Amino acid sequence: MKKCLSLTATLSCIVLLFLMANSAVYSQDATEEPAHTLTNPLNTFEGADPWLTFYDGNYYLATTTWASLLTMRKAPSLAGLKTAMPITIYFETDPSRCCNMWAPEFRLFEGDDGAQHWYFYYTARTSGTLDNQHSHVLESDGTDPLGPYHYKARLFDPAHDTWSIDGSVMVLDDALYFLNSVWVGDYQEIFIAPMSNPWTISGERVLISRSDYAWEKSGLFVNEGPVALQHDGKTFIIYSASYCATPDYKLGMLTYTGGDPLDGASWVKNPQPVFERSDENGVYGPGHNGFFTSPDGTEDWIVYHANPSASDGCGGARTTRVQKFTWNEDGTPNFGAPVAVGEEIAAPSGDSGIVTPAETVETTRFKLSSAQAYLRHLNLNFRIDFTVTPVEDSEFVVVAGLADPEAVSIQSVNFPGLYARHDETNLISLGLDDGSDAFAGSATWYERPGLVEGAEADAFSFESYDAPDSYIGQKFGLVALVKQSEMMTDRLREDATFVAEQ
Ligand code: AHR
Repeated sequence: MKKCLSLTATLSCIVLLFLMANSAVYSQDATEEPAHTLTNPLNTFEGADPWLTFYDGNYYLATTTWASLLTMRKAPSLAGLKTAMPITIYFETDPSRCCNMWAPEFRLFEGDDGAQHWYFYYTARTSGTLDNQHSHVLESDGTDPLGPYHYKARLFDPAHDTWSIDGSVMVLDDALYFLNSVWVGDYQEIFIAPMSNPWTISGERVLISRSDYAWEKSGLFVNEGPVALQHDGKTFIIYSASYCATPDYKLGMLTYTGGDPLDGASWVKNPQPVFERSDENGVYGPGHNGFFTSPDGTEDWIVYHANPSASDGCGGARTTRVQKFTWNEDGTPNFGAPVAVGEEIAAPSGDSGIVTPAETVETTRFKLSSAQAYLRHLNLNFRIDFTVTPVEDSEFVVVAGLADPEAVSIQSVNFPGLYARHDETNLISLGLDDGSDAFAGSATWYERPGLVEGAEADAFSFESYDAPDSYIGQKFGLVALVKQSEMMTDRLREDATFVAEQ
């Protein structure tokens, strides 16, 4: 395949590759042996705080995005999730809940219309600060986990309307309870509260766990990511303990001893962690888990995130991992040790083994023609960085212009459906294509010869479709729409001149 050099050639190259990829996808040789084994991790970026479930023939996986959108991966086999691209299922513009979305959980419950809906729980904040993290929930229109979804409610205890993260719903004796994690002084603690329906907390919260043991106090005094686990009539709450940025982030366990679940004394803490780092297997900071069962319902599996090194912290390097677990004689779960990345494990019982090859869509990075620095998005805003983690923040799929097919539009590879556009503040940011002409115009760019004198022959600058003579450039250190007439210096022209790298 001739390497595509200029942007326009890249576009035709992508179209060709995409068509080939699609044909490859749909002409997959039916005699190919299904994948009855898989390896971890399931993804290479944005794999933290995973929630995974098998429903109606497919696995669905959602993870923390740290941005204003929620995504989901779908595949007919667990191994297939590794090549499934995230699909954007929701994008928020309301500044009261726009940003920094964490910790997804999606559950099928009956709505007030008597029909089944997916309730998608997540954490989000107001713009500009981490201090307003709150718990929110979406409701699906129908029973497709991919949506469409509409915003349903913010979940809070009216007597304690505070910072709230990692919301999870527990069903016990046909009653719903909301579990979450809240800062109280120096401790991040786990609370339980009654619910009157899947989107409403109907009573005061009760404390059920805080960092009591030393193993819960690595870095910070944190208990978070609570999730219920039920088996043979027993109920447990598995939670994450210690600071998520340390390799000693791990899982603890509360056992329900009967009585009122809204009485803290009904929950007894295991004195030892139940799942933790394995230096031997190269797994650090395993935590913030979910649970799912195999397609035939005979096996119990845990999904969690972990880091590949002890120094990776609480960011985008955390990847999603899965493994089967068993039960001890006393009825408690036995999670074993976190398996090593790359270790072959048997696929879940009843798994189809169908793996769709990754779509070989060519991605492009845009490097300044004058420096080893790249155009990338971060929290939906664009900036120029010398090093980009995760690299996918600087990888884009160049497609025919939304407003003019002779031009191009620049789609994010890790937030599909979002494009580089100039926004109301004239900054360049990622926006969700809402199908409007206004959005299309703001996200369509003409490839012009590089504005800086003496740039490489294949250097180019992006001129806006709906703001002629204005280009993607930099202003006050931000990537913005800049008039050519304002680019009075070579440096400003260099900031608007790029070369494409595949
Ligand atoms: O990963 C983002 C947040 O970090 C998670 O919601 C929480 O469990 C952790 O503190």
